[in-house]
Amino acid sequence: MGKARPATADIAVEKLNEQQARAELEWLATEITRHDALYYRSDAPEIADSEYDVLRRRNEQIEAMFPQLRRSDSPSLKVGATPIEGFGKVRHRVPMLSLGNAFSDEDVVDFVARVRRFLGLAEDEPLNFTAEPKIDGLSISLRYESGRLIEAATRGDGAEGENVTANVKTMQTIPEHLAGNDLPGSIDIRGEIFMSHADFQKLNADQQAAGSKTFANPRNAAAGSLRQLDPTVTAQRPLHFFAYGWGEAQPLPGNTQSSVVDAFKQWGLPTNPELILCQNAEELISYYRDLELKRASLGYDIDGIVYKVDRLDFQERLGFVSRAPRWAVAHKFPAEQATTVLNDIEIQVGRTGALTPVAKLEPVTVGGVVVSNATLHNEDEIARKDVRIGDTVVVQRAGDVIPQVVSAVLEKRPEDAQPFEFPDVCPACGSHAVRELDEKNEKLDAVRRCTGGLICPAQRVERLKHFVSRTAFDIDGLGDKSIQAFYEDGLIQSPPEIFTLEARDKSSLKKLKDREGWGSQSARKLFAAIDARRRISLDRFVFALGIRHVGETTAKVLARSYGDITAFKTAMIAASQGTDSEAWLDLNNIDGIGETVAAAIVEFFAEPHNVKVVDDLLAEVEPQPLEAVATASPVTGKSVVFTGTLKKKSRGEAKAQAERLGAKVAGSVSKKTDYVVAGADAGSKLTKARNLGVTVLTEDEWDELVSGNF
Ligand code: IVH
Repeated sequence: MGKARPATADIAVEKLNEQQARAELEWLATEITRHDALYYRSDAPEIADSEYDVLRRRNEQIEAMFPQLRRSDSPSLKVGATPIEGFGKVRHRVPMLSLGNAFSDEDVVDFVARVRRFLGLAEDEPLNFTAEPKIDGLSISLRYESGRLIEAATRGDGAEGENVTANVKTMQTIPEHLAGNDLPGSIDIRGEIFMSHADFQKLNADQQAAGSKTFANPRNAAAGSLRQLDPTVTAQRPLHFFAYGWGEAQPLPGNTQSSVVDAFKQWGLPTNPELILCQNAEELISYYRDLELKRASLGYDIDGIVYKVDRLDFQERLGFVSRAPRWAVAHKFPAEQATTVLNDIEIQVGRTGALTPVAKLEPVTVGGVVVSNATLHNEDEIARKDVRIGDTVVVQRAGDVIPQVVSAVLEKRPEDAQPFEFPDVCPACGSHAVRELDEKNEKLDAVRRCTGGLICPAQRVERLKHFVSRTAFDIDGLGDKSIQAFYEDGLIQSPPEIFTLEARDKSSLKKLKDREGWGSQSARKLFAAIDARRRISLDRFVFALGIRHVGETTAKVLARSYGDITAFKTAMIAASQGTDSEAWLDLNNIDGIGETVAAAIVEFFAEPHNVKVVDDLLAEVEPQPLEAVATASPVTGKSVVFTGTLKKKSRGEAKAQAERLGAKVAGSVSKKTDYVVAGADAGSKLTKARNLGVTVLTEDEWDELVSGNF
């Protein structure tokens, strides 16, 4: 029941005094919000639509008479706020990350085993997981302070999203005020905004009738509806929301995933009714099977099931790898397929010189997206599947991955179709393209690579694009297109030339500002953006070099281990002198650097062309040592080796913790080792540590040393 209707409700609006108007607006705000909740969330309206309209109209009339009394939570703001100009940016206090994938039952079993191992759980120790649908919508972060919605942001790149507060406030299913007394001071609620199948079909029919743009699928419709510059448009779109997670929270209303989601529900946030608790991999898999059957009748798109470790203290211990939590996984549904004709096979040359066959297809819609290119992986795959130009082929798309050609439909093969011959020269530079021999298993690498290295235009321009890309040098205004154009015009042929661009431009007859699409302002901006990157973190610098096998994570490991660019470069050049050099052994000894990676790095520095590029770059930019992960930690910068069986945590967890605190974890003991942490049954490493006089700690002593630094 709502609060009693005020006595003034029957008085004509013109006759209200200010005090009465204020009281009635207050009542209307609560009452209309309550009816919205009954209607949208509980599907149980108490009043007829016409009565509801009367309330809304009365609210608007009073506000028109007394504009100064309009409340910030007024229902009138829910259908039409003033248009906003573009979207501001919002930096997420806690990044919005993604999930690792599982594609098979086996992957799920592995996931559970991995978690148990990491936590060091005994076989009989219980471990619960939540299981819930993975909604195919768009993720959103809602900031509530003292129970009031104050900001809503899209995921964006995970670190920074768009401010869509005005639009989200028009959504009837997202409460502007959380219900209850025990609300956190502040909390970022995370969840998915989506559109139901029925609403999607109706929206598209309406759009078509009105001659407006239709949407390819419900996800696009939801995204398009939310990202409207005019929130009144969003207000008319039927968007739904499920809360399933959080960012910053002070405090959290529970100590398990499921109890926090329960609290969300109590607060009036929509949560997915399909969420359940499971105790082991079998239960997770059986839930997955159930939902697979139920999928079509849910009424909204899901693309898999998400499993999360229930206990939050476990989640905390498990932490993250790269951009995904160790405590959760997305178990994807199998991909969607379609058939179409393979018109051609094009060989593309990547930044690393890899020749990749790309299927050029007769456009076809697969799972709501038009596909005209698909990957054929490599030459062995083409041969194995015997896919030929002219064939009708099965194309598959799974989630966000690149579409792929699965097989050829032999009954439809044209008589003259010939087996595909993979070229042995690079289509970009004519150099020989070869398959490396893997020394370990004596097998030919599946990938054929151009040997043209730095002279190959495909690699040079791709290397440049990689160099300026967002996760590398991240130079604003220097995207793929400009790089391509500058490269073609001979303005930028190699990374150091980026930094001499301005100086050369000054003495050039054809100035950047006079180029098509450029002006003095954009040229000035670009030069400023380039200058801003003359100081860059060492890990980005290393990653930007595009060394084979050196991704962001490896670059970080290297930056952390060597500290500064001079130490790194000197060591790498020394390591390239031979596999018995100390520098080579040190490199191999770094945890996270395997032999293949080490070999690739050393090969890079063994090539004088590459060293010249690095030197030329260093004349222009100054790589900054990586900030210590935890500045005040007593083990920052120390080299640590774990050995023997630890009793309180697994080796993996101990290692992750040490790295969080800024220590370097190595696999073997040398005189450079600062600490050896020895668990039970420690063997040769312990002996070696004693012989070398390295400090040996018990697990408890180690904990003592780092305590207070979690
Ligand atoms: S939990 C640390 N739960 O999937 C990330 N995500 O692939 C925690 N998604 O960006 C995410 N339904 O947009 C989670 N029930 C669910 C989800 C879900 C859909 C989306 C979300 C996220 C993406 C990750």
